[in-house]
Amino acid sequence: MSMLPVPHTAIIVVAAGSGTRLDAGAPKAFVGIDTHSILRHALDGVFAAGPAQVVVVAPPGFEGDAEAELLAAAGDRAELGRVVTGGDTRQQSVAAGLSALWGDVRTVLVHDAARALTPPETIDAVVAAVDGQTGVIPALPVVDTLKRVDGEAVVGPVDRSELAAAMTPQGFPRDLLEQAYAAALSRGDEYTDDAALFAAAGHAVRRIDGAPSGFKITTPADLDRARHLLSSAAAPAFATVPDAGGTAPTASVPRVGIGTDVHAFGGEGDLWLAGLEWPGEPALSGHSDGDAVAHAIVDALLGAAGLGDIGQHFGTAHPEYAGAHAAVFLARTAELLAQAGFAIGNVSAQFQGNRPRFSARRAEAQQVLSEALGGAPVSITATTTDGLGFTGRGEGIAVTAIAMIVPR
Ligand code: CTP
Ligand code: MG
Repeated sequence: MSMLPVPHTAIIVVAAGSGTRLDAGAPKAFVGIDTHSILRHALDGVFAAGPAQVVVVAPPGFEGDAEAELLAAAGDRAELGRVVTGGDTRQQSVAAGLSALWGDVRTVLVHDAARALTPPETIDAVVAAVDGQTGVIPALPVVDTLKRVDGEAVVGPVDRSELAAAMTPQGFPRDLLEQAYAAALSRGDEYTDDAALFAAAGHAVRRIDGAPSGFKITTPADLDRARHLLSSAAAPAFATVPDAGGTAPTASVPRVGIGTDVHAFGGEGDLWLAGLEWPGEPALSGHSDGDAVAHAIVDALLGAAGLGDIGQHFGTAHPEYAGAHAAVFLARTAELLAQAGFAIGNVSAQFQGNRPRFSARRAEAQQVLSEALGGAPVSITATTTDGLGFTGRGEGIAVTAIAMIVPR
């Protein structure tokens, strides 16, 4: 009756734990991450991977709930799925799953439902890496500095290059895993994971790279992490922004932009820089007042919004800006961003140059620039270049600015 070829791979999804540490008032697998439960997310990943028999191991009394999640995730692959009742320990739950495997299955993966956001690529990679002799686990490098302790005493270092954090799904040749389970049962030994049980039977286990999103949801903080990952994944990575004005972007993802500007000394009159006039300082040359700080900020903001650049909005084709000062440019830029649906988060700019001596007027400059942008924080830093380059020779000023903006 089956329309699908019988797969040689099975995935046992253990979901029979109570979730004591999560403490969410229901067995952990049925706790919602978003509108979908932990188990549903885990099964979505399993069914997005290559075809396999899927055995869900449910807490006693929750078989019907598990069946509903299985049917919802399986779509037209429902005939590949089945639910069995779990046991008191994880090892007993896996054993219950093993007893439900089809005869044709050669490779078995055991997967924690609690690793709900494991990417299907990890599942496929484990399947591909299992051979007739060897178990395979996904693992992540250990990043913490580890110590061996005895009570409160720190008794020694641990070389973390020798360690890896084990994840699931863990894959094995079916016959060897069944033998290893039978042997563990007869000894009455409990193991923390299937790889340990398999290795205790004398078999080799090797690791492949796990994905960070395959972390196990254990505590309320882990559940928050999963929720955060899903909500940021739901928003497009780049908001769609019209060339200028028009409809507002819908995503809530912040965006950043960078701008640079360089002007040579040699303009008329006094210097204008960072929105301030600097009496007695040599002026910068350039269209408008040559305020390279303001111009770099304009490009950073326009770039963040995907609205083109300063030449397009304020260049020689716009004679109305000739001689204009920073406040005019920045106010118009803020207006363009607002029309495109963005609020300005903050702006940071740094100029390189021997003069003017900036720090005494930093607060004043930041306030003028911030006001021109409608109140967004602006910070300006200044540096010399140790006599090197055109800025070090006093020929001009170079500025780099970055801006962070958020869709409203
Ligand atoms: N598991 C299981 N049967 C058990 C115990 C655990 O199927 N008797 C499953 C869990 O459902 C989970 C995975 O094994 O998907 C890893 O276990 P863990 O994260 O410890 O989950 P819980 O045991 O539910 O949580 P806790 O230890 O906090 O009670
Ligand atoms: Mg547990």
